[in-house]
Amino acid sequence: MKQPWWKEAVVYQIYPRSFQDSNGDGIGDLPGIVSRLDYLNDLGVNVIWLSPVYESPNDDNGYDISNYYGIMKDFGTMADWKSLLNGLHERGMKLVMDLVVNHTSDEHPWFIESRKAQTSPKREFYIWRPPRNGKEPNNWASFFSPSAWKFDPATGEYYLHLFSEKQPDLNWENPQVQTEIFSMIQWWLDQGIDGFRMDVINFIGKPAGLLDSPRAPTHPDGYVHDPSFYANQPFTHTLLHKLNREVLSLYDVMTVGETPEVTPETASLYVAPDRQELNMVFQFELMGVDAGPNGKWDVQPWKLSDFKRLVSKWQTGLAGRGWNSLYLSNHDQPRQVSRFGDDKQYRLESAKLLATLLHTLQGTPYIYQGEELGMTNVAFPRLDDYRDLETFHFAATARKQGYDESWIMNAIHRVSRDNARTPMPWNSQKNAGFTTGTPWIDLNPNFSNINVSQALADPNSVLRYYQALIRLRRQEPTVVVGTYVPLLENHEQLFVYQRRGPNTLLIILNFCGQTTRWSVNEAQAVGLTPHAILLLSNYPDMVNDSAKSSPSLSEFQPWEARVYRLES
Ligand code: NOJ
Repeated sequence: MKQPWWKEAVVYQIYPRSFQDSNGDGIGDLPGIVSRLDYLNDLGVNVIWLSPVYESPNDDNGYDISNYYGIMKDFGTMADWKSLLNGLHERGMKLVMDLVVNHTSDEHPWFIESRKAQTSPKREFYIWRPPRNGKEPNNWASFFSPSAWKFDPATGEYYLHLFSEKQPDLNWENPQVQTEIFSMIQWWLDQGIDGFRMDVINFIGKPAGLLDSPRAPTHPDGYVHDPSFYANQPFTHTLLHKLNREVLSLYDVMTVGETPEVTPETASLYVAPDRQELNMVFQFELMGVDAGPNGKWDVQPWKLSDFKRLVSKWQTGLAGRGWNSLYLSNHDQPRQVSRFGDDKQYRLESAKLLATLLHTLQGTPYIYQGEELGMTNVAFPRLDDYRDLETFHFAATARKQGYDESWIMNAIHRVSRDNARTPMPWNSQKNAGFTTGTPWIDLNPNFSNINVSQALADPNSVLRYYQALIRLRRQEPTVVVGTYVPLLENHEQLFVYQRRGPNTLLIILNFCGQTTRWSVNEAQAVGLTPHAILLLSNYPDMVNDSAKSSPSLSEFQPWEARVYRLES
């Protein structure tokens, strides 16, 4: 059966600020991306998701939009954007834009007008409340500052901002907001784009009454970080269904919602086709596998059995009800090889193993720029070297809580979003070929080894392996349609599963830096016999050289990954 195009697609996320600078100002831009389209095409990806390129004062690198209809000056012009769209379409690739409509910038004309007076015609575009006992209207914490409320002396009221003070939340209860945003969405669709990634879309409908979260304070000043309290409101579903019926369904586009705080149950309410809301969502449960009781900065060792349980939960939980989006990295997460693999001795092997997982589960894979090179986390020595406002907020809060500087810097090295935002390394020359000027954030110093020209020249690079995985998806329909069958669920070294469709695939991932052995009987129990056909492996000698093409059935090398087709 023919699948919708977005189920067969491989998506590549570009963070424009860090991809390719073309004019020497140290900031990546649209002409820079255009100059790299052949690289992306050769990689084999067929959809580009572009993080925001709209006009923005850049408090949160474009996730604070001051004009939805204009292009950020640092990135270029509308004509540059059109060349990007055309360049992609000419190559048979598609463009997905980021849609940030939970909030705008405080420099958006709507907010500038809204804050002028309580009687402003745009007052109800945002969420304003009078003080409660001289303080904030409720106890909600913001992601990027202590309270989610900011007092505005001009009118004596507070406005809600779930993110930074410069990102006031829109009031979706207001029909005028709905009309404005829906027509903006339609305007972009009419420019010929192929879909949207929707920023924190499950936060847009706020709970009635904006009551206090009943949870214990998470911030030293008594505020409570509890997104589950306002995520996934019934009103959000009403809005998304309306958006789908009135706008999205008139176009052949894909939609993926960024949705913290979802389980397969609540996610299916967004993605079940008969609900007519979205095509996919990004879930965060897997990204929480290394988070401790105090959240993401409280990084903890993780167990493979927990990691597998979460993967399986989503693979089986959405099966037949909705379509998974698959990701291990993006601009908000640390680099996957540093987080889930080994970024030292087995960097190549473990980056390829993680890629094998990403590309052989059921769902649409999303590659984040640089992941295809096996890029690693960066450990800048000083807080000043960082640029991300979330990182600064964390450091300020942790200091207030009494953590010492070395603990704070260690947490930043592990999970700061800037790990993923260092510039794309194109070659080993000055500034890695990213810019001729001064880059807006330092490069990862390992760019002389980890860069695109090295990867293109090396047949065994991570990049070449990504190409092979993408080809496998195109050649073997079971990768797209096959059901997921987990095996050996409690094994702490091996991640083993089958995909059953027109063929049966067996995927074996040795998720550790040691050799793992099992008996012939154990191998047979998961379907591995001498008749199994090895389609792909990250230990290159095995598939390329027929003389060596019978890898051991009972022994797996450190971080070894194999994809077999089983004889039916
Ligand atoms: C999620 C985005 O991915 C992140 O980068 C941003 O800071 C927040 N939403 C706020 O827009």
